[in-house]
Amino acid sequence: MKSFKQKVAAITGAGSGIGQQLAIALAKQGCHLSLSDVNEKGLADTVEQTKSYGVRVTSKKVDVADREQVKTWAVETAQNHGSINLIFNNAGVALGATVEGETYDELEWIMNINFWGVVYGTKEFLPYLKQSKDGHIINISSLFGLISQPTQSAYNASKFAVRGFTESLRQELDLENSGVSATCVHPGGIRTNIAKAAKMSDSLKSLGMDPSKSIQSFDKLLRTPPEDAAQVILNAVKANKPRVLIGNDAKVLDGLQRILPTGYQTLSRFAAKLTQKL
Ligand SMILES: NC(=O)c1ccc[n+]([C@@H]2O[C@H](COP(=O)([O-])OP(=O)(O)OC[C@H]3O[C@@H](n4cnc5c(N)ncnc54)[C@H](O)[C@@H]3O)[C@@H](O)[C@H]2O)c1
Repeated sequence: MKSFKQKVAAITGAGSGIGQQLAIALAKQGCHLSLSDVNEKGLADTVEQTKSYGVRVTSKKVDVADREQVKTWAVETAQNHGSINLIFNNAGVALGATVEGETYDELEWIMNINFWGVVYGTKEFLPYLKQSKDGHIINISSLFGLISQPTQSAYNASKFAVRGFTESLRQELDLENSGVSATCVHPGGIRTNIAKAAKMSDSLKSLGMDPSKSIQSFDKLLRTPPEDAAQVILNAVKANKPRVLIGNDAKVLDGLQRILPTGYQTLSRFAAKLTQKL
Protein backbone atom coordinates (compact mmCIF):
# COMPACT_ATOMS: atom_id res chain seq x y z
CA MET A 1 0.00 0.00 0.00
CA LYS A 2 1.77 3.11 -1.22
CA SER A 3 -0.74 5.68 0.03
CA PHE A 4 -3.48 5.89 2.68
CA LYS A 5 -5.47 8.51 0.75
CA GLN A 6 -9.12 7.48 0.32
CA LYS A 7 -8.44 4.17 2.09
CA VAL A 8 -10.47 2.99 5.09
CA ALA A 9 -8.72 2.02 8.35
CA ALA A 10 -10.22 0.39 11.44
CA ILE A 11 -8.34 0.86 14.73
CA THR A 12 -8.95 -0.83 18.08
CA GLY A 13 -7.89 0.92 21.29
CA ALA A 14 -8.15 4.22 19.39
CA GLY A 15 -8.99 6.26 22.49
CA SER A 16 -5.43 6.64 23.78
CA GLY A 17 -1.71 6.38 23.07
CA ILE A 18 -0.52 4.64 19.91
CA GLY A 19 -4.06 4.01 18.62
CA GLN A 20 -5.03 7.66 18.96
CA GLN A 21 -1.87 8.83 17.21
CA LEU A 22 -2.38 6.31 14.40
CA ALA A 23 -5.87 7.75 13.88
CA ILE A 24 -4.58 11.34 13.74
CA ALA A 25 -1.69 10.49 11.40
CA LEU A 26 -3.97 8.52 9.07
CA ALA A 27 -6.59 11.29 9.00
CA LYS A 28 -3.87 13.79 8.05
CA GLN A 29 -3.01 11.52 5.12
CA GLY A 30 -6.62 11.43 3.89
CA CYS A 31 -7.61 8.01 5.26
CA HIS A 32 -11.20 7.40 6.42
CA LEU A 33 -11.50 5.96 9.93
CA SER A 34 -13.56 3.44 11.87
CA LEU A 35 -12.44 3.83 15.48
CA SER A 36 -13.20 1.69 18.52
CA ASP A 37 -12.29 1.45 22.19
CA VAL A 38 -13.90 0.45 25.49
CA ASN A 39 -13.12 3.94 26.78
CA GLU A 40 -15.83 6.16 25.26
CA LYS A 41 -14.32 9.38 26.62
CA GLY A 42 -10.95 8.70 24.98
CA LEU A 43 -12.70 7.62 21.79
CA ALA A 44 -14.69 10.88 21.65
CA ASP A 45 -11.43 12.80 22.13
CA THR A 46 -9.86 10.99 19.14
CA VAL A 47 -12.94 11.66 16.99
CA GLU A 48 -12.67 15.34 17.92
CA GLN A 49 -8.99 15.41 16.96
CA THR A 50 -9.50 13.73 13.58
CA LYS A 51 -12.72 15.25 12.24
CA SER A 52 -11.16 18.48 10.95
CA TYR A 53 -9.16 16.64 8.27
CA GLY A 54 -12.12 16.13 5.93
CA VAL A 55 -12.23 12.35 6.25
CA ARG A 56 -15.20 10.20 7.28
CA VAL A 57 -14.84 9.16 10.92
CA THR A 58 -17.13 6.64 12.61
CA SER A 59 -16.71 5.34 16.15
CA LYS A 60 -18.11 2.59 18.33
CA LYS A 61 -17.61 1.26 21.83
CA VAL A 62 -16.12 -2.21 21.27
CA ASP A 63 -14.55 -4.61 23.76
CA VAL A 64 -12.02 -6.57 21.68
CA ALA A 65 -12.29 -9.50 24.10
CA ASP A 66 -15.90 -9.99 22.93
CA ARG A 67 -15.99 -11.82 19.59
CA GLU A 68 -19.60 -10.83 18.80
CA GLN A 69 -18.85 -7.14 19.39
CA VAL A 70 -15.83 -7.26 17.06
CA LYS A 71 -17.87 -9.11 14.42
CA THR A 72 -20.71 -6.57 14.56
CA TRP A 73 -18.23 -3.68 14.37
CA ALA A 74 -16.59 -5.18 11.25
CA VAL A 75 -19.98 -5.60 9.54
CA GLU A 76 -21.01 -2.03 10.44
CA THR A 77 -17.64 -0.62 9.32
CA ALA A 78 -18.11 -2.22 5.89
CA GLN A 79 -21.70 -0.91 5.71
CA ASN A 80 -20.78 2.62 6.78
CA HIS A 81 -17.61 2.99 4.71
CA GLY A 82 -18.30 0.75 1.69
CA SER A 83 -14.95 -1.05 1.96
CA ILE A 84 -12.13 -1.66 4.47
CA ASN A 85 -8.38 -1.67 3.71
CA LEU A 86 -6.66 -1.71 7.08
CA ILE A 87 -7.22 -3.17 10.53
CA PHE A 88 -4.90 -2.06 13.35
CA ASN A 89 -5.32 -4.59 16.18
CA ASN A 90 -3.85 -2.26 18.76
CA ALA A 91 -5.93 -2.44 21.98
CA GLY A 92 -3.91 -3.87 24.85
CA VAL A 93 -3.40 -4.00 28.60
CA ALA A 94 -0.50 -4.83 30.92
CA LEU A 95 -0.17 -6.96 34.03
CA GLY A 96 2.70 -7.34 36.50
CA ALA A 97 2.45 -10.60 38.47
CA THR A 98 4.40 -13.73 39.26
CA VAL A 99 3.38 -17.02 37.64
CA GLU A 100 2.69 -18.49 41.05
CA GLY A 101 0.70 -15.49 42.25
CA GLU A 102 -1.33 -14.52 39.18
CA THR A 103 -4.92 -15.73 39.21
CA TYR A 104 -6.53 -17.57 36.31
CA ASP A 105 -8.92 -14.60 36.02
CA GLU A 106 -5.94 -12.24 35.51
CA LEU A 107 -4.40 -14.57 32.91
CA GLU A 108 -7.68 -14.90 31.04
CA TRP A 109 -8.28 -11.13 31.21
CA ILE A 110 -4.97 -10.28 29.52
CA MET A 111 -5.07 -13.14 26.99
CA ASN A 112 -8.66 -12.27 26.04
CA ILE A 113 -7.67 -8.69 25.21
CA ASN A 114 -4.07 -8.92 23.98
CA PHE A 115 -4.28 -12.22 22.10
CA TRP A 116 -7.91 -13.09 21.39
CA GLY A 117 -8.66 -9.43 20.59
CA VAL A 118 -6.04 -9.63 17.83
CA VAL A 119 -7.42 -12.96 16.58
CA TYR A 120 -11.01 -11.64 16.44
CA GLY A 121 -9.92 -8.42 14.74
CA THR A 122 -7.89 -10.35 12.17
CA LYS A 123 -10.52 -12.97 11.35
CA GLU A 124 -13.58 -10.70 11.34
CA PHE A 125 -11.96 -8.03 9.13
CA LEU A 126 -10.02 -10.33 6.78
CA PRO A 127 -12.92 -11.05 4.36
CA TYR A 128 -13.44 -7.30 3.83
CA LEU A 129 -9.72 -6.63 3.39
CA LYS A 130 -9.59 -9.35 0.73
CA GLN A 131 -12.57 -7.79 -1.07
CA SER A 132 -10.68 -4.47 -1.18
CA LYS A 133 -7.75 -6.23 -2.98
CA ASP A 134 -5.41 -3.77 -1.22
CA GLY A 135 -5.47 -4.66 2.46
CA HIS A 136 -3.13 -4.75 5.42
CA ILE A 137 -3.40 -6.23 8.92
CA ILE A 138 -1.28 -4.54 11.58
CA ASN A 139 -1.00 -6.48 14.84
CA ILE A 140 0.62 -4.79 17.81
CA SER A 141 2.88 -7.16 19.72
CA SER A 142 5.71 -5.71 21.85
CA LEU A 143 9.41 -5.85 22.57
CA PHE A 144 8.06 -8.34 25.13
CA GLY A 145 6.94 -10.48 22.18
CA LEU A 146 10.69 -10.95 21.50
CA ILE A 147 12.19 -11.17 24.99
CA SER A 148 10.76 -12.27 28.33
CA GLN A 149 10.94 -10.48 31.65
CA PRO A 150 10.27 -11.59 35.22
CA THR A 151 6.71 -10.56 36.34
CA GLN A 152 5.60 -10.39 32.69
CA SER A 153 4.74 -14.04 32.01
CA ALA A 154 1.13 -13.31 31.04
CA TYR A 155 1.96 -10.23 28.95
CA ASN A 156 4.91 -12.08 27.39
CA ALA A 157 2.69 -15.04 26.54
CA SER A 158 0.07 -12.79 24.93
CA LYS A 159 2.61 -10.85 22.86
CA PHE A 160 4.70 -13.89 21.79
CA ALA A 161 1.38 -15.40 20.68
CA VAL A 162 0.55 -12.31 18.60
CA ARG A 163 3.94 -12.59 16.90
CA GLY A 164 3.55 -16.29 16.06
CA PHE A 165 -0.01 -15.78 14.84
CA THR A 166 0.89 -12.78 12.66
CA GLU A 167 4.04 -14.27 11.12
CA SER A 168 2.12 -17.40 10.12
CA LEU A 169 -0.77 -15.29 8.81
CA ARG A 170 1.51 -13.18 6.61
CA GLN A 171 3.00 -16.25 4.96
CA GLU A 172 -0.46 -17.67 4.22
CA LEU A 173 -1.62 -14.37 2.72
CA ASP A 174 1.50 -14.25 0.52
CA LEU A 175 1.08 -17.89 -0.56
CA GLU A 176 -2.44 -17.28 -1.81
CA ASN A 177 -1.63 -13.91 -3.45
CA SER A 178 -4.52 -12.49 -1.49
CA GLY A 179 -3.85 -8.79 -2.00
CA VAL A 180 -3.63 -8.54 1.80
CA SER A 181 -0.46 -8.39 3.87
CA ALA A 182 0.38 -8.34 7.57
CA THR A 183 2.90 -6.57 9.80
CA CYS A 184 3.81 -7.44 13.37
CA VAL A 185 4.79 -4.39 15.45
CA HIS A 186 7.19 -4.57 18.41
CA PRO A 187 7.28 -1.29 20.31
CA GLY A 188 9.79 -0.65 23.08
CA GLY A 189 8.76 1.85 25.75
CA ILE A 190 6.23 4.29 24.27
CA ARG A 191 5.04 7.25 26.36
CA THR A 192 1.36 6.29 26.72
CA ASN A 193 -1.10 5.43 29.46
CA ILE A 194 -0.21 1.70 29.41
CA ALA A 195 1.78 1.70 32.69
CA LYS A 196 -0.76 3.80 34.61
CA ALA A 197 -3.57 1.52 33.40
CA ALA A 198 -1.59 -1.65 34.23
CA LYS A 199 -2.68 -4.11 36.90
CA MET A 200 0.09 -4.81 39.39
CA SER A 201 -0.52 -7.85 41.57
CA ASP A 202 0.42 -8.14 45.23
CA SER A 203 2.32 -11.28 44.19
CA LEU A 204 5.20 -8.97 43.15
CA LYS A 205 6.01 -8.66 46.85
CA SER A 206 7.31 -12.23 46.82
CA LEU A 207 10.14 -10.96 44.55
CA GLY A 208 10.83 -8.04 46.87
CA MET A 209 8.99 -5.61 44.56
CA ASP A 210 6.52 -2.93 45.60
CA PRO A 211 3.45 -3.05 43.24
CA SER A 212 2.85 0.75 43.23
CA LYS A 213 6.56 1.47 42.77
CA SER A 214 6.57 -1.00 39.88
CA ILE A 215 4.05 1.18 38.01
CA GLN A 216 6.31 4.22 38.45
CA SER A 217 9.41 2.26 37.36
CA PHE A 218 7.54 0.92 34.33
CA ASP A 219 6.29 4.42 33.46
CA LYS A 220 9.84 5.85 33.58
CA LEU A 221 10.92 3.41 30.84
CA LEU A 222 8.34 4.76 28.38
CA ARG A 223 10.34 7.29 26.35
CA THR A 224 9.33 7.28 22.67
CA PRO A 225 6.47 9.72 21.87
CA PRO A 226 3.37 7.87 20.57
CA GLU A 227 3.21 10.13 17.51
CA ASP A 228 6.71 8.88 16.52
CA ALA A 229 5.55 5.29 17.06
CA ALA A 230 2.54 5.88 14.78
CA GLN A 231 4.81 7.29 12.06
CA VAL A 232 7.16 4.28 12.23
CA ILE A 233 4.18 1.91 11.96
CA LEU A 234 2.67 3.70 8.96
CA ASN A 235 6.04 3.80 7.17
CA ALA A 236 6.39 0.04 7.79
CA VAL A 237 2.96 -0.58 6.25
CA LYS A 238 3.90 1.44 3.16
CA ALA A 239 7.17 -0.54 2.90
CA ASN A 240 5.23 -3.80 3.51
CA LYS A 241 7.62 -4.86 6.28
CA PRO A 242 6.83 -8.15 8.03
CA ARG A 243 8.24 -6.88 11.34
CA VAL A 244 8.89 -3.45 12.77
CA LEU A 245 10.71 -2.50 15.98
CA ILE A 246 10.03 0.89 17.55
CA GLY A 247 12.63 2.76 19.61
CA ASN A 248 16.31 2.23 20.32
CA ASP A 249 15.42 0.22 23.43
CA ALA A 250 13.59 -2.33 21.28
CA LYS A 251 16.42 -2.47 18.72
CA VAL A 252 19.17 -2.90 21.33
CA LEU A 253 17.32 -5.55 23.33
CA ASP A 254 16.31 -7.44 20.18
CA GLY A 255 20.00 -7.45 19.20
CA LEU A 256 20.91 -8.71 22.66
CA GLN A 257 18.54 -11.67 22.53
CA ARG A 258 19.94 -12.65 19.11
CA ILE A 259 23.50 -12.66 20.48
CA LEU A 260 22.52 -14.22 23.82
CA PRO A 261 19.32 -16.18 23.09
CA THR A 262 19.04 -17.39 26.69
CA GLY A 263 21.92 -15.48 28.30
CA TYR A 264 19.88 -12.25 28.04
CA GLN A 265 17.83 -13.55 30.97
CA THR A 266 20.72 -12.94 33.39
CA LEU A 267 20.89 -9.29 32.28
CA SER A 268 17.12 -9.05 32.37
CA ARG A 269 16.99 -10.19 36.01
CA PHE A 270 19.68 -7.66 36.89
CA ALA A 271 17.79 -4.87 35.10
CA ALA A 272 14.57 -5.82 36.91
CA LYS A 273 16.33 -5.34 40.26
CA LEU A 274 17.94 -2.11 39.14
CA THR A 275 14.74 -0.45 37.84
CA GLN A 276 13.04 -1.27 41.13
CA LYS A 277 15.71 0.76 42.91
CA LEU A 278 15.46 3.83 40.59
N1 LIG B 1 3.33 1.88 25.48
C1 LIG B 1 4.27 0.95 25.37
O1 LIG B 1 5.39 1.11 25.90
C2 LIG B 1 4.00 -0.32 24.60
C3 LIG B 1 5.08 -1.18 24.36
C4 LIG B 1 4.86 -2.35 23.66
C5 LIG B 1 3.60 -2.65 23.19
N2 LIG B 1 2.56 -1.79 23.44
C6 LIG B 1 1.24 -2.16 22.94
O2 LIG B 1 0.69 -1.08 22.20
C7 LIG B 1 -0.73 -1.19 22.20
C8 LIG B 1 -1.34 0.16 22.50
O3 LIG B 1 -1.06 0.51 23.84
P1 LIG B 1 -0.70 2.00 24.31
O4 LIG B 1 0.70 1.98 24.75
O5 LIG B 1 -1.15 2.98 23.32
O6 LIG B 1 -1.57 2.06 25.66
P2 LIG B 1 -2.81 2.95 26.10
O7 LIG B 1 -3.20 2.43 27.45
O8 LIG B 1 -2.49 4.38 25.99
O9 LIG B 1 -3.93 2.56 25.03
C9 LIG B 1 -4.54 1.29 25.00
C10 LIG B 1 -6.00 1.48 24.61
O10 LIG B 1 -6.60 0.17 24.57
C11 LIG B 1 -7.89 0.29 25.13
N3 LIG B 1 -8.38 -1.00 25.61
C12 LIG B 1 -8.00 -1.67 26.73
N4 LIG B 1 -8.73 -2.79 26.86
C13 LIG B 1 -9.58 -2.83 25.80
C14 LIG B 1 -10.58 -3.75 25.37
N5 LIG B 1 -10.88 -4.84 26.08
N6 LIG B 1 -11.24 -3.48 24.22
C15 LIG B 1 -10.97 -2.36 23.51
N7 LIG B 1 -10.05 -1.45 23.87
C16 LIG B 1 -9.36 -1.69 25.00
C17 LIG B 1 -7.73 1.30 26.27
O11 LIG B 1 -8.99 1.83 26.67
C18 LIG B 1 -6.79 2.31 25.64
O12 LIG B 1 -7.50 3.34 25.01
C19 LIG B 1 -1.06 -2.28 23.23
O13 LIG B 1 -1.35 -3.49 22.56
C20 LIG B 1 0.22 -2.42 24.02
O14 LIG B 1 0.37 -3.69 24.61
C21 LIG B 1 2.74 -0.63 24.13
